[in-house]
Amino acid sequence: MFSNNPDAEHSARIIRERAGGLGVPSFAIVLGSGLGAIADALSDAVAIPFGDLPGFPRPLVRGHAGRLVLGRLGGTDVAVMQGRAHYYEAGDVAAMKVPLRALAAVGCPALILTNSAGSLRPEAGPGSLMMITDHINFTGANPLIGEAGDDRFVDMTAAYDAGLRARLRAAAGRLAISLHEGVYIWFSGPSFETPAEIRAARVLGADAVGMSTVPEVLLARWLGLRVAALSVIANPAAGMAESALTHETSVAEAAGAAGDLTRLLIAFLKDDPAA
Ligand code: HPA
Repeated sequence: MFSNNPDAEHSARIIRERAGGLGVPSFAIVLGSGLGAIADALSDAVAIPFGDLPGFPRPLVRGHAGRLVLGRLGGTDVAVMQGRAHYYEAGDVAAMKVPLRALAAVGCPALILTNSAGSLRPEAGPGSLMMITDHINFTGANPLIGEAGDDRFVDMTAAYDAGLRARLRAAAGRLAISLHEGVYIWFSGPSFETPAEIRAARVLGADAVGMSTVPEVLLARWLGLRVAALSVIANPAAGMAESALTHETSVAEAAGAAGDLTRLLIAFLKDDPAA
């Protein structure tokens, strides 16, 4: 189906070797800015620095450690990417292609993406969680440009898996965590948006805004992975509050909500390890 990718195959081999007695991960989980601490909750953890994995990113952004941590969370085998590559770092929209291909090649069937995001909804304040139901690709960039073959024409009508969303909603309910749901709009960054852009995004139907996730969803759906995505709201989007936007505040707010996100993910994974 896909052309060979030597880096992805090499990385997949290394992941399998280092996994030892761990099973094939049921979920890959990508941790967003400030959310790296979730990896500390894994049991039987095996950490592989991205530097040991050909084609994996060499993250530049603070708040990203840059390792793949294999282990168990909520009794389920998972592969956690602590750190991701962003389009704004080097203009490479396909920077997550090799990692996601490698995880698919080891047999992982599903991906949970996390990010920190700005909120376009006053009732979804900093520290709250939003499950992504759909997205708007406002950059126009696409990591599948240049791929050959008809499978590049990926159907995006149900990109965010309804079954996984129902399980996340149920897990949040059990924990009495309020889980907002909404549409994520992807801006390239690294500058934050203008207030006019945020007003436009609201008209377009967006509920949260961020600089990641969408290219990974496109790649994952191309690879046939089921996808769920969760935003930790770090700040009201530009123009929606008095305060200026800074990366530091955004990372600190996300870190503050990482506890709820960890509890949600553990409850979700305990519910049905078979994915
Ligand atoms: N805009 C874009 N990305 C973000 C934001 C924001 O307001 N907050 C956290 N990541």
